[in-house]
Amino acid sequence: MSRPRRRQHVPWNAAGRAAEGRGDGDSVVRDTGWVFNNATGSRLTLAEFVNSGEQEVGAYLEFFGFDPEENAQRGLVEIGAGIGRMTASFTRRFKSVVAADLDAAFLERCRETVARFGVPDRLSTSHVADGRTLGLPSSSADMVFSYITLQHCEQADALALTVEALRVVKPGGYVVLNYRTWIPDDALLFPAGALVRAMWRIPKLGAWLARQRWSTRLGWQANRLAPRVVLQHLASAGVTLDDPTVWVKSTRRISGLDGVPVRTFVGVDRSHWWLIARRAS
Ligand SMILES: C[S@@+](CC[C@H](N)C(=O)[O-])C[C@H]1O[C@@H](n2cnc3c(N)ncnc32)[C@H](O)[C@@H]1O
Repeated sequence: MSRPRRRQHVPWNAAGRAAEGRGDGDSVVRDTGWVFNNATGSRLTLAEFVNSGEQEVGAYLEFFGFDPEENAQRGLVEIGAGIGRMTASFTRRFKSVVAADLDAAFLERCRETVARFGVPDRLSTSHVADGRTLGLPSSSADMVFSYITLQHCEQADALALTVEALRVVKPGGYVVLNYRTWIPDDALLFPAGALVRAMWRIPKLGAWLARQRWSTRLGWQANRLAPRVVLQHLASAGVTLDDPTVWVKSTRRISGLDGVPVRTFVGVDRSHWWLIARRAS
């Protein structure tokens, strides 16, 4: 078995192998669903899991101001689709959806989820084999969306995927990208996470550790990215944005945004923020 290229790929590939070995979707959700929506329990069902995605997709698209009729004409790329928690909802709302993920077994499950709860004719999948490059043509999507995924990548990969999102989206199309930034708890959480990720590399113990919920939850957030860092990276990569907006939970002082407006939506996690922007025409 080949070793994951980066240690923060370990828990995803471990959950992917577990998902591969399970028969029905409900069992997959009971065993691995917590890596997507943090819910645990022996009575969880795929239907409830997909409903949590439906609620979140509906809330974000509405609060970020995307018109349902325009969405119905749009092709969407979802970076970090997992086993399709949100993807099923996207296929009901968008003209076409490309589900992209680091783990190929998740994508297999994603197809099954969409077959049961979405519109399978509108779905295709794309394996992000190296965790940083989308195998999709430039200017091929009307919107690129990513939720609780870029925080799980090494910082350089999260920034690379951000540039990739803006390569893949058409001029005038939208990126809707979710990141995690620093919060005071990170004084403890960040070093503990780095330690756990290092331990995932220990032969045998590491493989066992990567399947433990406490260890995954400590180690899986591999970066913290402030809005300023992402915007500066895009500028240095020569990417020009139209109408960029940063969305956070509540207004707080965010430095270095060079006039980019900051808006609030109570549904945003306190450690998260979103970049919503159009690729310059
Ligand atoms: C917390 S889950 C979120 C999945 C989905 N967005 C949801 O809300 O249910 C993070 C997903 O990102 C994927 N992922 C992690 N690192 C990635 C990378 N570098 N490139 C693409 N996908 C990645 C994982 O395999 C996993 O499916």
